[in-house]
Amino acid sequence: MAKLKITETVLRDAHQSLLATRMSMDDMRPILSTMDKIGFYSAECWGGATFDSCIRFLDEDPWERLRILRKEMPNTKLQMLFRGQNMLGYRHYADDLVEYFVQKSIANGIDIIRIFDALNDIRNLETAIKAAKKENGHAQVAISYTTGDVFTHEYYVNYAKQIESAGADSICIKDMAALLTPYEAGSLVKELKNAVKIPIQLHTHYTSGLASMCIIKAVEAGVDAVDTAMSPLALGTSHAPTESVVAAFMGTEYDTGIDLAALGEIREYFMGLRKKYLESGLMDQSMLATNTKALIYQVPGGMLSNLLSQLKQAGKADQLDEVLAEVPRVRKDSGFPPLVTPTSQIVGTQAVFNIIMGERYKTVTKEFKGMVKGEYGRTPVEIDPEFRKKILGSEEPITCRPADQLSPEFDKMKEEAKAYVDDPTVEDILTYAMFPKVAPGFFEKQRDRKVGVDAVHADKVNKVHPV
Ligand code: CO
Repeated sequence: MAKLKITETVLRDAHQSLLATRMSMDDMRPILSTMDKIGFYSAECWGGATFDSCIRFLDEDPWERLRILRKEMPNTKLQMLFRGQNMLGYRHYADDLVEYFVQKSIANGIDIIRIFDALNDIRNLETAIKAAKKENGHAQVAISYTTGDVFTHEYYVNYAKQIESAGADSICIKDMAALLTPYEAGSLVKELKNAVKIPIQLHTHYTSGLASMCIIKAVEAGVDAVDTAMSPLALGTSHAPTESVVAAFMGTEYDTGIDLAALGEIREYFMGLRKKYLESGLMDQSMLATNTKALIYQVPGGMLSNLLSQLKQAGKADQLDEVLAEVPRVRKDSGFPPLVTPTSQIVGTQAVFNIIMGERYKTVTKEFKGMVKGEYGRTPVEIDPEFRKKILGSEEPITCRPADQLSPEFDKMKEEAKAYVDDPTVEDILTYAMFPKVAPGFFEKQRDRKVGVDAVHADKVNKVHPV
């Protein structure tokens, strides 16, 4: 029996879940070489919201962060999270930008790209998978896991087969909303293992207090790898503690091969950071509490707090229960999208409007209309034509792969970026393309402190990859 592989998430999802993605490179760097010696299968350390956070809040070049991670962790596979055709932004990008982004991520140090699509539309993943394979990267496709009548094992098995045929190297069950329960985890893993040959990984959050139990059942059912977080930044909305998972399987056929004692020094280090984050208020104790509400409302924790803040702004905080009852109805109307970025925001905001306006779909957001139109891809269930007509009016729905309607945009982005950076690198252009409103201010600050930036020189680390 192969040993269980561990993906350590403390450098990405753990702090994205507990402290709004604000861990800086200064906070990470002192412990990286120690982490590199542990024997983690991989370290999830880039992508997701880290890119946005780097340029918006931390004044750090995300590409430089990646090169430093690569330099300090030469023996560990570096892993990133990538939203398929949305990349790390919030819209659909043209294929040329997706290809450039994947290429540059790998060239600067990424080994494993975990790619997902909010609607589980395989067409939105094809370009990213192909680009990763072209650069000899590992393309892992994550299934956006959700619950509801249509999300049967048959649905997931069917999607897993599509993923395998598309050329992915492995599959991840991405339970972003902590909806997975232990026995469901076990039976789902078993069915997927029977259906596909590529390895299966489990990503689940601790929010409802079930993650450790899900991991045990998934491992017994044959899962190949699991995501965990070093204990000081584990539990609550984060993941199961790495040390506990390592301890749980010690001496069994699933032994991770990781030395529990060696994790002590890393724990000590992150305990110091935890104390700092709690004292500064960056991390809130309440994020660490167990909350089974997600299982009842079936919405991710982050979405729940977003809904509440939108209602508070409208002075309608007392209508939260009505909005929570409206969310599943809006989801049904719009073809049962799983609730994950960006669909969680789209469905949540529309549900808020439906309640506070006192009439359903009196106001329809641009994004909701886009989703009904097919701009984000194919929804898991076909939308009722009458409802679609009510939302779109005379506009025709899109049935093709959404990116097929987008012309190449790299050259245009390059021209625009030149207004803010002299001689922009491909990395600069991608930064601009991702966040065109935030990037100009970021470039300005970077220019002021070009001297003295502790960077690994790109020419030494970057492989040359002509597109
Ligand atoms: Co996650």
